[in-house]
Amino acid sequence: MIEIDEAKCNGCNLCASVCIGGPIYKGPEVRDDGRIICVECGHCYAICPEDAITLTGFAGFKPHELAEKPPVDGPAMMALLRGRRSGRMYKPEPVSREHVQELIEAASLAPSAHNGHLTKAYVCYDEGTISRIRERTISYYRRLVWFFELPGFPLVWRLMGLDPEELEVLKYAFRGLWESDKNDDILLYGTKTLLTFTAPRRNAMALGDAWIAAQNAVNYAETIGVATCYNGFLIHAANHDKGLRKTMGIGGGEKVVAVLNLGYPRHRYRRAAPRRIMDTAWQ
Ligand SMILES: Cc1cc2nc3c(=O)[nH]c(=O)nc-3n(C[C@H](O)[C@H](O)[C@H](O)COP(=O)(O)O)c2cc1C
Repeated sequence: MIEIDEAKCNGCNLCASVCIGGPIYKGPEVRDDGRIICVECGHCYAICPEDAITLTGFAGFKPHELAEKPPVDGPAMMALLRGRRSGRMYKPEPVSREHVQELIEAASLAPSAHNGHLTKAYVCYDEGTISRIRERTISYYRRLVWFFELPGFPLVWRLMGLDPEELEVLKYAFRGLWESDKNDDILLYGTKTLLTFTAPRRNAMALGDAWIAAQNAVNYAETIGVATCYNGFLIHAANHDKGLRKTMGIGGGEKVVAVLNLGYPRHRYRRAAPRRIMDTAWQ
């Protein structure tokens, strides 16, 4: 809920101008006719030059004054983004709780539709559970490959309008989970720390929110020396195998949006990997 200290308010109306929901209008008045939605975005609080606005209901929130310029400049931010890599070679120890907590805080600061913040985080350190997650995921993909290899399946695949070559690529990738001769754990890479982000299954917009939240955590992780790697295999399997979701402690009402393998990197990347600038249409 918004509270305005009328003694401090100078009536500049910036709070009303920045408000998207409409509960504030013209100076120090809060319209409360039960029809207007405040999404608690806090823009009124953040913009007020007199610090006259309080948002109640944010236990533990520590005020944070902003300098005129962002604390990181363009070249530094671009260098961070350029240097970010998926990390798959970890030291044996798990990522500390303090570091995981920081990743979750970074994720919690991401934008979200209607300021909904419906993303939930699940942290798994338990080695037995991680091992069961691995087994269950691999057995899910074994079943899938068995299904793909049924005699009529390629025809069904083509009738679904899907590319036959992709079917071969998928079979090869899935088989690699148990047949790889390069590394015996190309699913989890020996991680001791799994961080999963979920969204309510029946809320279409919350899916995007969870992705963005996860990427906030990924970018922040670079700054504290934590390696991250999205785990697409696990994301897909968890959304199709109830038992796996149960092993991960995730309820049926939630969709698994992002899973990150975390670890302290065993090696450092020496240079940025080449990337193409995406196709862009300007008008
Ligand atoms: C949605 C998504 C799923 C991914 N799934 C996996 C995965 O299952 N296993 C893996 O090793 N890497 C996975 N990755 C990491 C990509 O392979 C990686 O981002 C890509 O090769 C580019 O490398 P970079 O992240 O260092 O730029 C995934 C990335 C994304 C965005």
